[in-house]
Amino acid sequence: MAVAAAQKRADSETAERILAEYGLSAVPRHVAIIMDGNGRWARARGMPRLAGHHAGRENVRRITMACADAGVEVLTIYAFSTENWRRPADEVWGLMSLLAEAIDREAADLNRNNVRIHHSGSLDGISAALAKSVQRAVDLTASNTRMVLNVAFNYGGRAEIARAVRRMLAQGVDPEGITEERIGEFLDTAGLPDPDLVIRTAGEMRLSNFLLWQAAYAEYYATPVCWPEFGREELYRAFADFGRRTRRFGGLV
Ligand code: IPE
Ligand code: IPE
Ligand code: MG
Repeated sequence: MAVAAAQKRADSETAERILAEYGLSAVPRHVAIIMDGNGRWARARGMPRLAGHHAGRENVRRITMACADAGVEVLTIYAFSTENWRRPADEVWGLMSLLAEAIDREAADLNRNNVRIHHSGSLDGISAALAKSVQRAVDLTASNTRMVLNVAFNYGGRAEIARAVRRMLAQGVDPEGITEERIGEFLDTAGLPDPDLVIRTAGEMRLSNFLLWQAAYAEYYATPVCWPEFGREELYRAFADFGRRTRRFGGLV
C-alpha cells in the first residue's frame, strides 16, 4: 500500500515536471490517436510497407510512456480498422503478426508500468491465438491504475454502434430507457471517458470510422508528421495546442 502511494506521488511529480518543462496548461484526460503514415514513411526511405509498420509499432511504446508520464488517463490507439481488411493479404497478415508479437512482448512491461490494457473492436475473424493473447493481456493488467491503453483493433465506429444496438435488443432494453448514457454503456469504451483530443498523423483530414460516437466533442489535431516519427516532442506540441483551445460544448463562455 505504502509502495503504491509512493509510486503515485512519483508519477504525479513526473507529470508536473513535464507540464512545467513544456509549458503545458492542460493535459487531455483521454487522447486518441489515428496512427497513420507508416506506409508513406517506409516508401520515402525505399523500404517495404511492413518496415513502416514495424517502425510504427516501436513508436507505440514511446508514445504510451510519453502519455503516462504526462498524466494522461486514457490513450486510445487505432491499430487496425474494420476497413483495413481490404488491404492485400500479405500486408494484413504482416500487421496481425506484428500485433501478436507486440502484445505478448509488451504486456509484461505495461503491467510493470501499471498500465491497464483495454481492447475496443471485435475479436471475430481474428486468429484464435491472437484473440487469446489479447484476452490474456487484458486479464493480466486488469487491476492497473496509472493509465488505460485502449487498443482499437479490428475496430470501426459504425460496427461498434451496430454491435451495441444488437446487444441492447438482445438484453431487452426498454426503448424508453435508451438514453445517450445507456448507449455509452453498450459501446466497447464503456467506463472510459470520451476522448478530449484526437490526433491524426500523416496529414489526412478524416476520421476513417474512428470513435464516431465518443469523439462528438473532441478537439482535433492533425500533423503532417508520419506516425513512426511522431515522438514525445510532437505529442507535447499537440498537448500545448490543445491547451490553447476554448471548448464550449455548444454553450457560451
Ligand atoms: C497506418 O499506416 C497503419 C495502419 C492503417 C494499420 P498506413 O499503412 O495507413 O500508412 P499509409 O497511410 O499508407 O502511409
Ligand atoms: C486509419 O488509417 C486506420 C488506422 C490508423 C488503423 P487508414 O490509412 O486505414 O485510413 P484511410 O484509408 O486513409 O482513410
Ligand atoms: Mg493510411
